[in-house]
Amino acid sequence: MADAPPIGEILVQPDQLKERVRALGRQVSDDYAERDLLLVGVLKGAMFFLSDLMRNITVPCEVDFMAVASYGSATDSSGVVRILKDLDMPIEGRHVLIVEDIVDSGLTLQYLLRNLGARDPASLEVCALLTKPERRKADVPILYTGFEIPNRFAIGYGLDHRERWRNLPYVAALAEA
Ligand code: IMP
Ligand code: MG
Repeated sequence: MADAPPIGEILVQPDQLKERVRALGRQVSDDYAERDLLLVGVLKGAMFFLSDLMRNITVPCEVDFMAVASYGSATDSSGVVRILKDLDMPIEGRHVLIVEDIVDSGLTLQYLLRNLGARDPASLEVCALLTKPERRKADVPILYTGFEIPNRFAIGYGLDHRERWRNLPYVAALAEA
């Protein structure tokens, strides 16, 4: 059946997401209390995480977005990244927190850190909802992590497989074909 939902094992339940995102919001609020925070959401995967995280941040902050595409197959990025949408605002002198859905090989994030770092922000850190440490090819510094997940392709809560399944309220593994 070609159209059976490819939803496998649930990796992170909705209440775990809610609780962890709330804790991350508290941590970010503490750390950036005296700083002018700019959240940079990476489209499209980070959209739900970013909006939930931002509602749990209690210090003044702004938001901007980038959209990037990394050349590669449906499940493997190559590290060659193309900017589809750049930031609206300059970030020179700003305290920038990149908000990512998932760090897999780390190649996309490595590119983003170099690209945004070259614009002279006052600080540049990363908050990633999910990380797959087993798959890492580039050593990238992640200050805030939601959950470490096993080496499975994840869908839901913003994460897609071929643009579908972002609307699932939990994070699940893509079912094996
Ligand atoms: P990386 O460059 O390999 O770290 O992967 C970068 C991007 O690929 C992430 O920001 C996601 O958009 C996407 N990606 C990587 N792993 C997954 C996954 O398990 N599910 C959905 N998207 C993924
Ligand atoms: Mg992404």
